[in-house]
Amino acid sequence: MPLFEARNIQKRFGSRVVLENVSLAVEEGSVHGIMGPNGAGKTTCFHVLTGHHAPDGGTISFDGKDITGLKPHRIARLGISRSFQIMNLFDDTVAVENVILALPEFRVRALNLSRRVFEDRQLIDAALEVLAQVDLADHAWEKASALSYGQRRALEIAVALAARPRIVFLDEPTSGLGAEATRGLASLVKRLRQRYTIVMIEHDMRFLFALADRISVIHWGQVIAESTPDALMANKWVARSALGELA
Ligand SMILES: Nc1ncnc2c1ncn2[C@@H]1O[C@H](COP(=O)(O)OP(=O)(O)O)[C@@H](O)[C@H]1O
Ligand SMILES: [Mg+2]
Repeated sequence: MPLFEARNIQKRFGSRVVLENVSLAVEEGSVHGIMGPNGAGKTTCFHVLTGHHAPDGGTISFDGKDITGLKPHRIARLGISRSFQIMNLFDDTVAVENVILALPEFRVRALNLSRRVFEDRQLIDAALEVLAQVDLADHAWEKASALSYGQRRALEIAVALAARPRIVFLDEPTSGLGAEATRGLASLVKRLRQRYTIVMIEHDMRFLFALADRISVIHWGQVIAESTPDALMANKWVARSALGELA
């Protein structure tokens, strides 16, 4: 049984149908890629799968439980986490605090406004452990705004991991990164996959094909192909339309 499964997801905004019929099955421990042209509905699909939009049709299950229509915080608590396509950090705040703010144990206590973040050694240690997973332990006390673009992307992933998920959704993690930072991110994803199930939208084919176990191609709100990277390469339609940059 897949760890995460979406069946026949539909989503429209007014009369505009954005997701016509999207199904997706993600095995535990795998990296599942999603590709497709701009405007295909990929980000909308992530919004639906993580509860930010309710679907108009279809079902979503995680670990055997039906999670269709649950609110984002309920879904997050079950072990599903995501990063956003747009950078989402507190810039004037040090890296470790960005992670602390996302820790479930901080969120529980945050109602107590008198509690100061840096007076709690357990919170700091928990956040440092998450930063170590993305190789940022040595930058823990630097402001997010002082980090390189690649480090900021790693910090965003750390913020997603702070919730201690089983599955992480990443929306175009390489966007804005240069060649070297993209290579760094590839080795990070290779390491993270030993610990997490990963679903990622990605337009960088080289990156995606090197990392993904399976890839779903979304076009016009539908999955038009789903297979291994090798099989997709051999698919003439995909090769012609989307893989030009690899040739
Ligand atoms: N909240 C919304 N209201 C209306 N249309 C939307 C909304 N969100 C996304 N769309 C439309 O859905 C389509 C797919 O967008 P998106 O999911 O962001 O595509 P992708 O991530 O594949 O580039 C676009 O045409 C976009 O304008
Ligand atoms: Mg998008």
